[in-house]
Amino acid sequence: MSGPLPFGRTPPVERSALTAAFAFDALSRWPYPEAPGLQAHDAADLLLLDTLQAWLDAGHGADATGDGGAVVVLEDRHGALTLPLLAAGHDVRVGQDALAHERSLDANVSRWATPLPGALHRGTLDPALVAGAHAVLLVLPRSLDALEQWAHLVAEHAADDVILLAGGRDKHMTPRQNTVLGRYFQSVVPGRGRSKSRVVTARGPVRGRPAPFPRTAVHALPGVGPVALAAHGATFGGTAVDPGTRLLLEHLGEAATVDRAVDVGCGNGTIAVYLAMLARRGGRAAAVVATDQSADACASTALTVGLNGVADVVEVRRDDALASFPEASEQLLVLNPPFHAGNAVDTRVALRLFEAAARVLRPGGELWCVWNSHLMYRPDLERAVGPTRQVTRDRTFTVTVSTRG
Ligand SMILES: C[S@@+](CC[C@H](N)C(=O)[O-])C[C@H]1O[C@@H](n2cnc3c(N)ncnc32)[C@H](O)[C@@H]1O
Repeated sequence: MSGPLPFGRTPPVERSALTAAFAFDALSRWPYPEAPGLQAHDAADLLLLDTLQAWLDAGHGADATGDGGAVVVLEDRHGALTLPLLAAGHDVRVGQDALAHERSLDANVSRWATPLPGALHRGTLDPALVAGAHAVLLVLPRSLDALEQWAHLVAEHAADDVILLAGGRDKHMTPRQNTVLGRYFQSVVPGRGRSKSRVVTARGPVRGRPAPFPRTAVHALPGVGPVALAAHGATFGGTAVDPGTRLLLEHLGEAATVDRAVDVGCGNGTIAVYLAMLARRGGRAAAVVATDQSADACASTALTVGLNGVADVVEVRRDDALASFPEASEQLLVLNPPFHAGNAVDTRVALRLFEAAARVLRPGGELWCVWNSHLMYRPDLERAVGPTRQVTRDRTFTVTVSTRG
């Protein structure tokens, strides 16, 4: 190679052996629901891989990312980035916020029929994950805060010549993502679109910017007064109190007194801290388990419970859809269900949590749930859990309690 490409230039991208030689259709979405028409890869995954190969062919990071070298992959969902790289002999360092995505990638690796000679390393949102990296592939997250958190980590700890390739489907991309990347990189270049997908190349890390997360904010919660909420970048709703959750809390004090309650999908820990503060006042549940599949949400909830002095009452547990809870073990579950799987609106993720709740509740146990009224979850709750009554509703949200039969 005659030298690195100047900022602003990117190599031409074509279909490469990385994607042409890989059986993407053999990847499974498990533990996410499988259905006809749903795939475990998309065109943005293929474009990311072909863009990386174009940079490698242009001589980028030849020592560290050539055959056997390490590539960092962030927010892969089912392994559609990681497995082709492993198959081509690259070592891969993977960082994923969602435990369901970790489980999906692991399942695909363990059942893959052909050799995957590269080595797979797992990491958390931590400098070691990206330290010294020359090439980072990122599936663009839906949240700009999550993107900012990754951009800061890469800019701060990767190699000087790092290329951060951030890819997504056109329908999920906005110029604001480039603005966020532009805070942490001198050069941000959107590539040419292909199959309604695009890759943005960021280079020239800007070091020394303050870490954008965690953040904190104080809110008054119904019945318990001011609480501090903490949030890392990939946490649902940041440091805000979700309006649906606020409506739920206005009525949650009516729930039966129990030994222990579970905050399912705890996010920034609003519900967990509310339950713990009620317990402090001699009210409801004596202990709380706060659980979320998001590593960031668990870290945020741990900060929140610490800030409010209730760490002795709240156990924070990273778990996918209550998988670690025994059958018929719990009396009270509280849920503000998610309605996104990755970037896509997908109500099946809520249905999966209703089924998990049904498995974990004891007979007579209750699932308190708040949902956007237009989603009309009541028949789903009746079917999955048991008799369901409306506790309250406002212009947007409905609060229900479902009793396990
Ligand atoms: C709508 S948010 C509610 C967050 C928080 N409880 C609140 O009220 O602000 C839904 C949460 O469910 C979590 N979640 C999504 N899928 C999950 C799963 N399979 N297992 C556990 N938590 C999950 C998300 O990470 C997110 O934090």
